[in-house]
Amino acid sequence: MNLPLSKQLSNSLEQKTIIITGASAGIGRQCAIDCSKAGACVVLIARSVDKLLETRSMLEDGNHLVFPYDLSNCEDINVAIKDIVKKVGHVHGFIHSAGAADTMPFQAVSPEDMLVLHKVNTISAFEIARQISKPGCLSPTGASFIFISSIRAIHPEPGTIAYAASKSALVSGMKVIALELAKKKVRCNCISPGFIRTDILDEYLGQIDEEEKQRVLAGSLLGLGEPIDVSRMAIFLLSDQARFITGTDIVIDGGTLLK
Ligand SMILES: NC(=O)c1ccc[n+]([C@@H]2O[C@H](COP(=O)([O-])OP(=O)(O)OC[C@H]3O[C@@H](n4cnc5c(N)ncnc54)[C@H](OP(=O)(O)O)[C@@H]3O)[C@@H](O)[C@H]2O)c1
Repeated sequence: MNLPLSKQLSNSLEQKTIIITGASAGIGRQCAIDCSKAGACVVLIARSVDKLLETRSMLEDGNHLVFPYDLSNCEDINVAIKDIVKKVGHVHGFIHSAGAADTMPFQAVSPEDMLVLHKVNTISAFEIARQISKPGCLSPTGASFIFISSIRAIHPEPGTIAYAASKSALVSGMKVIALELAKKKVRCNCISPGFIRTDILDEYLGQIDEEEKQRVLAGSLLGLGEPIDVSRMAIFLLSDQARFITGTDIVIDGGTLLK
């Protein structure tokens, strides 16, 4: 405990197993790299096997597991988690970074469109959390769950109804899970990023016109963030240094919400 903070965090996840969704790209990939640097064994989940293997090649040595899975299949997550736990043992942490976005006017969004985004962004996150918090899966010493939400949950833009609703559901659901699982020593938190340089941002900016793009980006006082700006906070929240932090939503947005 007398070590400087940087040293405390550098080995902060030793002996811990962390499940990360969305580990094939962007924020999830950076979280996986940084978890491995902090000593964790990492389970990498996303659809693209090739990209997961690419992430795997970027990690520090360790007993990491590549586990390709389409999270829109929420029904079989129980089977997937049983398989994972059989291979890696107890789980100490979970980062839900998988996410999908679509920009469509409210009038054009069908119930099916809503469901597609909710399954990947929200329902699968809660189902993984539910399955890993069962006896035999969860570490008896407790765990830390992190759900990557978005400033869209509290700061709407036109055309983002399915995305914004799925992300606010993530924040409110996280608080319920935090309440119910505190007795099992599980801490739950959200991180809500603003504009971070990744594929999902490129996709969103590609769907709006140039004038709108300039207006939206000008809102971020510190410009664009990088995945590491989010992963640093995730590593801290996973570590025992954050042992008194639960049920909160941490905004990392370069000042966007100030306007
Ligand atoms: N970048 C930003 O500006 C920003 C801002 C606010 C919030 N966020 C949130 O941050 C999280 C990470 O996004 P990112 O910026 O890192 O974007 P990204 O680079 O596009 O990564 C998205 C990840 O989600 C995975 N994914 C998508 N659909 C999936 C499915 N059906 N099953 C399993 N995995 C799936 C993708 O992997 P596969 O394609 O291989 O399946 C990929 O690994 C998302 O939840 C996003 O909403 C990002």
